[in-house]
Amino acid sequence: MSTRVLTGITTSGTPHLGNYAGAIRPAITASTQPGTDAFYFMADYHALIKCDDPARVARSRLEIAATWLAGGLDPERVTFYRQSDIPEIPELCWLLTCVTAKGLMNRAHAYKASVDQNTAKGVEPDDGITMGLFSYPILMAADILMFNAHKVPVGRDQIQHLEMARDIAQRFNHLYGRDYFVLPEVVIEEEVATLPGLDGRKMSKSYNNTIPLFEGGAAALKAAVMRIVTDSRQPGEPKDAESSHLYTIYRAFATPAESAAFRAQLEGGMGWGDAKQALCDRLERDLAPMRERYQELMANPGRIEDILQAGAQKARKLAVPFMEELRQAVGLRAAAAPAGKAAGKKTGKAARFVSFRDDDGTFRFRLLGADGQELLRSRGFANPKEAGALLQRLQAQGGHDFLQAEGLAYAAVLDGDTVAQGPQAADAAQRDALLAQARQALASLAG
Ligand code: TRP
Repeated sequence: MSTRVLTGITTSGTPHLGNYAGAIRPAITASTQPGTDAFYFMADYHALIKCDDPARVARSRLEIAATWLAGGLDPERVTFYRQSDIPEIPELCWLLTCVTAKGLMNRAHAYKASVDQNTAKGVEPDDGITMGLFSYPILMAADILMFNAHKVPVGRDQIQHLEMARDIAQRFNHLYGRDYFVLPEVVIEEEVATLPGLDGRKMSKSYNNTIPLFEGGAAALKAAVMRIVTDSRQPGEPKDAESSHLYTIYRAFATPAESAAFRAQLEGGMGWGDAKQALCDRLERDLAPMRERYQELMANPGRIEDILQAGAQKARKLAVPFMEELRQAVGLRAAAAPAGKAAGKKTGKAARFVSFRDDDGTFRFRLLGADGQELLRSRGFANPKEAGALLQRLQAQGGHDFLQAEGLAYAAVLDGDTVAQGPQAADAAQRDALLAQARQALASLAG
């Protein structure tokens, strides 16, 4: 079974070199690993929490999408989408909000930090704090639980949010009596580079010490690199590579051999000016071709939009049926009768085949479980006799296993022909459960 990895980036800023090396590049690499099913998205609902400038939100969405794609993300391989294209996410957020203890949110670091700042300033504790900021962790939980992600790679500042997502998932599972949600695990990549910014502190928009990734072109990148702080050692004096921010950044892009050579040059007395030029050259080798793709994408926002729409479609294939199941779980929609033998006995119903004429005029049949759930739907036939013949064939073969999993659905295959199909499941576990029910139903009808 594949591991579902999910992460999002809030669309309120312009990606910088630190975002690329610390989050985007490792995520793209992870998405190419066998056995990984990656979900990467733009958290634009989250952007509204910190940013009320519509132009900034719109621009950032384009920049971040273009950065992922220019960096080599393959949207065919991963599910790459925009949060606000999935209306099931805010809907799930509400269901989760209704099971989340307010006290849990009171303990969120981001909220507490804002309260502390207000207290220090001598204003009302909740001054300027929106409900968006307060409930932020619930929206994030909805992002993750909607797709039943197993692993969520994030920065250290997000660890608490992942713990909250697990708490909320557990509470929902417990209240509604079934493991609807996978409990997600946080992944903190120790190996991944945390880049220093211009002043040597962690590169971050909030410290205003960033090196731009693509915006402003090679000139802006170079101008920023030239502003990285160094010590006052003169050309000819040996430099301490380990304590140099230039070297830390260089290493995050270079091979071990290249890094060793750069280090030797620093220790041999290379001047800081030359070292900065060497760093620029090394960065450009990786970034120049990506920047070209980035600029091309930025000039064609329609192309980005098409890719995002295709991604949303892929994501909603899972979100729509899962949300329907969750609506039933909480009682917003009539639940399918409880599955299982007991239910079958109570109503006196058993698994059965039901023939029908489809809207397209063809003749088909369904296999229904004892609870009335559709487990298979045959392909359409021009006349009822042909459909009947297939039905009898399936019935005769009942005990014999001709069902095969296909993606998140399954199919009945006879002599290499797909003759009937099972429903699309929300995830592999649900598909396996349905498949098991279908096998049981067929076995009970065999003969
Ligand atoms: N809160 C995350 C951040 O600021 C972004 C985010 C939103 C996210 N939803 C998510 C990350 C779901 C991982 C999973 O970095």
